[in-house]
Order: sequence, then C-alpha cells, then structure tokens
Amino acid sequence: MLENGIFYFAKTKMKRLISRIIATIKNRMLRILNFYGIREMDKMKDNFISLASHELRSPLTAIKGYVELLGEHNEGKLDEESQKYLRNMGISVDRLNALINDILEISKLEGNRIPFKISIFNPKEIIHKSVDEMKFQAKKKNLSLACLPCPDIQIRADRKRLGQILVNLIGNAIKYTEQGKIEIKTEVKGEELLISVNDTGIGISEENLANLFQKFYRIKNDKTRSVSGTGLGLWIARGLSKKMDGDITVESTEGIGSQFTIHLPLA
Ligand SMILES: Nc1ncnc2c1ncn2[C@@H]1O[C@H](COP(=O)(O)OP(=O)(O)OP(=O)(O)O)[C@@H](O)[C@H]1O
Ligand SMILES: [Mg+2]
Repeated sequence: MLENGIFYFAKTKMKRLISRIIATIKNRMLRILNFYGIREMDKMKDNFISLASHELRSPLTAIKGYVELLGEHNEGKLDEESQKYLRNMGISVDRLNALINDILEISKLEGNRIPFKISIFNPKEIIHKSVDEMKFQAKKKNLSLACLPCPDIQIRADRKRLGQILVNLIGNAIKYTEQGKIEIKTEVKGEELLISVNDTGIGISEENLANLFQKFYRIKNDKTRSVSGTGLGLWIARGLSKKMDGDITVESTEGIGSQFTIHLPLA
C-alpha cells in the first residue's frame, strides 16, 4: 500500500518534471526560431531597401541631368511658365533623392550597420564648418546665422556624424524661421557637452513636442504647409546621437522660437 503511494507520488512528480522540461525546450526553440526568423526578415528587408534605393537612384540621376541640360539648352528661350515647370521638376527630383537617402539611412541605423568612427576631438572645427555650410541657405532667407564662442573641450564622438546632425538641425532652424536669427551655443554641463541650435522661428506646441522625434512626423499648419520635408530628419539625428551615447532634447514656444540641443559625452 505504502509502496503504491510512493510509486504514485514519484510518477506524478516525474510527469510534472518532464512536462516542465518539455515546456522549457519548446520555449527556447520558439525563441531561437523567432530570433533567427526575425533576423532573416530584417536581412531581407535591408537587402530590398538597398536594392530598391540603388535602382531608383540611377534613373533619378539621369532625370536630374536631363532637367539641367534642358534648362541650359533653352536658356533665354523659355517663357516664365515653362521655366517654373523645369524648376519644380528639379526640386521634386532633389526631394525624391533626399527621401531615398533618408530611407537608406534609417534602414542602416535600425540594422546597426552605420559605421561609427568614434574618436576624441575638439568639436569647434566641426561646429564652425557646419555653420559655414549652411550660411548660404540662411542668407537666402535673410536670416543671421552665428556661432557663439565655443569652450575648448574634448568630446568622444564621430566627427562626420556630428556634422550631419548639426547640418540637419541648422537646416530645420532655417526652414522653420521666417525672420530673426539662428545661434549655435556650446556649453559644458556635468559630463556632457551641450550644443544647442536656437532659432526665432515659428516654434512648436506642447502637443507636437511630444511626437516630434517619430518617424515621418510633420507638423501640419498654415506656417508649415509650404515647407517641404519628409519628417525623417529628427528621427535620424536623434538615432545617430544615441548611438554616440548622446541624445537630442528640445524646448520650444509657439511663435517665439525653438532650441534643439545635442548632448554628447565629454572625453
Ligand atoms: N526648428 C524648428 N522649428 C519649428 N518646427 C520644427 C523645427 N524643427 C523641426 N520642426 C518640426 O518638426 C517636424 C519634424 O522635423 P524633421 O526634421 O524630422 O522633418 P522635416 O524637416 O519635416 O523633413 P526632413 O526629413 O526633410 O528633415 C517638422 O516637419 C517641423 O514641423
Ligand atoms: Mg528636417
């Protein structure tokens, strides 16, 4: 009787143990399958995006070339209206090219395939170079673009990527400012260097601030309607900053202006 009891107890214990082991194995197998399945899907998506971007770029370059040639060939011969059509064709091609570049950049960023060359350097030169690069665009809109004195300090980042982020933020400041100035300020705070791009532009409401860094997010109102863009710039800029152990934050008041700040670790 006692033997039967012990046997029954052992049998149920064994049964429970075996089913627990089977469940664990099943779980692990599922996790492995999921991991490799998702990785495979990611790889396929990346390949598709690279291929599609490449295939789209070649005819676009050709179209851009022909649009320019058409303009040169007919210089002085085209009426106002036709010149406008040609200009718009050029703008659309540039926009499509920028979109393709952004989609490629996102795919690389998400797939951890952007090579970062992290080094220790004084950011002064990159900041001034980025400002110089954008001076022409600012001048076209009659905006002053200036860089306030930058502290002599070393940071740990990727030079090229920092330049890309700065150009992106200054580009936005120019796009979304009708009059006034854009200033780049740099200061050390704790273990970080803060580089802020300040504008006297249209500003951003509280509600929009909360969604600003989402992919394809663009604010739609009377002031932004005529400004072109895809809503990917800030997502990319913040993604790049985070990969360098930094971040981008924003403060803004509607009708007054905005301040976008790049945070990067000191060396
Ligand atoms: N300095 C700024 N002042 C006011 N609004 C801004 C500013 N910077 C960005 N925004 C708002 O945030 C949105 C998202 O910016 P983001 O740079 O991601 O996209 P975009 O400028 O529209 O397009 P692109 O992908 O070409 O950069 C913009 O559409 C604009 O409404
Ligand atoms: Mg932008």
